[in-house]
Amino acid sequence: EAARVRPQALLTWYDRHRRSLPWRALPGATADPYAVWLSEIMLQQTTVRAVGPYFEKFMARWPSVTALGEASLDDVLKMWAGLGYYSRARNLHACAVAVTRQHGGRFPDTEEGLRALPGVGPYTAAAIAAIAFGRRTMPVDGNIERVVSRLYAVEDELPKAKPRIKALAETLLGPSRAGDSAQALMDLGATICTPKKPACALCPLMDGCAARLRGDVDSFPRKAPK
Ligand code: ADE
Repeated sequence: EAARVRPQALLTWYDRHRRSLPWRALPGATADPYAVWLSEIMLQQTTVRAVGPYFEKFMARWPSVTALGEASLDDVLKMWAGLGYYSRARNLHACAVAVTRQHGGRFPDTEEGLRALPGVGPYTAAAIAAIAFGRRTMPVDGNIERVVSRLYAVEDELPKAKPRIKALAETLLGPSRAGDSAQALMDLGATICTPKKPACALCPLMDGCAARLRGDVDSFPRKAPK
């Protein structure tokens, strides 16, 4: 686990290669917590490509969390139709109602406060805290697990390695721009550090990647046999 990674190398790469996605603010602008939350819920079990049009439809019909909180569950479920995993839509509505009625229409700005909302687990709370509020935390999903377990050649198997991977992921945060660091890792996992045939030659972190240095990227992350 001897990866040497400069947080700034990741951010410099992101500034050049960031994907333009409908829920992302323009470079340098602060993200709308509502848009970040809505996109993260939609992205939980659905691809970026499939989420795009749904995200746009929701934002057009309900431009704020209070607008969504005042909508009927029935209308929300109708708009969600086709995205699947409908418990997400029920939690989405419950969360909008809670933010509207119990938080004056503003999302809590800490991981802990976010975590208390319906449908918001540890990953989503960290994503919103970092991306919308600049909190110094790293959301770790399956993609980020793969990137980090390769960078540090984490020998422990998933799922046991999760806490270790979370701690290592946080070493990739610099003094600021936590949300950009998180989204840089997401983009890296989606476009370069892919499950099969990763494009290591294009990776901004290749020099310090422990799995690559030992010529063994394909064997990470290690997984417990099923
Ligand atoms: N997957 C989950 N959250 C994402 C985000 N903010 N950008 C790109 N892909 C994601």
